[in-house]
Amino acid sequence: MLSEQQIIQYQGTTDLLKDRIILVTGAGDGIGKAAALAFAQAGATVILAGRTVAKLEHIYDQIVAADYVQPVIYPIDLEGAVAEDYDQLAVALDQQFGRLDGLLLNAGVLGQRTPLSNYRHDVWDKVMHINITAQFQMAQALMPVLEKSNDASVVFTSSGVGRQGRAFWGAYAISKFAIEGMVQTWAAELDGVGSVRINAINPGATSTNMRAQAYPAENPENLKTAEQIMPAYLYLLGPDSDKVNGQSINAQNR
Ligand SMILES: NC(=O)c1ccc[n+]([C@@H]2O[C@H](COP(=O)([O-])OP(=O)(O)OC[C@H]3O[C@@H](n4cnc5c(N)ncnc54)[C@H](OP(=O)(O)O)[C@@H]3O)[C@@H](O)[C@H]2O)c1
Repeated sequence: MLSEQQIIQYQGTTDLLKDRIILVTGAGDGIGKAAALAFAQAGATVILAGRTVAKLEHIYDQIVAADYVQPVIYPIDLEGAVAEDYDQLAVALDQQFGRLDGLLLNAGVLGQRTPLSNYRHDVWDKVMHINITAQFQMAQALMPVLEKSNDASVVFTSSGVGRQGRAFWGAYAISKFAIEGMVQTWAAELDGVGSVRINAINPGATSTNMRAQAYPAENPENLKTAEQIMPAYLYLLGPDSDKVNGQSINAQNR
């Protein structure tokens, strides 16, 4: 495995992800959008999954205009989706591609920034559902189609507040702790079995809508852009990380 610095500075070949089928959730905005574009630029066929179709169409058009491999739009709202929806997605991927090589589980919500003693139960339920339950359900449903790939990479999205508790981060932080635990548990189960690896990525402070919502007074120009943190994403979704399993990787220096 590369060192943290090497991963942060990773530069794959221009066709690093050629012939790979990669699904990105939350592909319409922020980090997911940058990842979808970076993966397409590296030669992947990207399935753009997300809830706001107009945003997905915009990325679709950008990818086609750049002459990258034609992507696929797959509208899905993780708040309302149930097991059958994920099964349907698995069937659609199997029918169209016969396998899935990469799954970037990136979509997430922030919830409230408030003490747990005041935290609203409806917000808790929504954040936990989108940030952990839906992530598990989608990955579980897609496992059979991932197992059809020779080298499949599943990447869940964590956060610094999912490793060290911090005041006022509420259900968001707790859901990211759960992501770290799920990655360790699942990766241990898959270690040495088959060809699917499971890791977590911690983007670090990145200029997106979510970051602005969490830190409204911050100057976004002092932050990394989503494009700047793509090396770690490319490394984890590409063949150079084929032996990496059960890790929680930082996409930028802390
Ligand atoms: N930015 C940071 O500094 C930072 C730091 C640590 C971790 N992260 C993590 O990185 C990931 C991406 O965050 P971001 O900063 O790029 O946030 P963002 O700009 O708010 O983007 C979040 C994405 O998730 C999608 N999404 C939200 N709820 C959804 C739902 N119910 N169903 C389907 N898609 C849904 C959004 O879709 P719409 O566009 O349709 O709303 C959007 O595409 C998240 O998991 C976040 O926790 C971010």
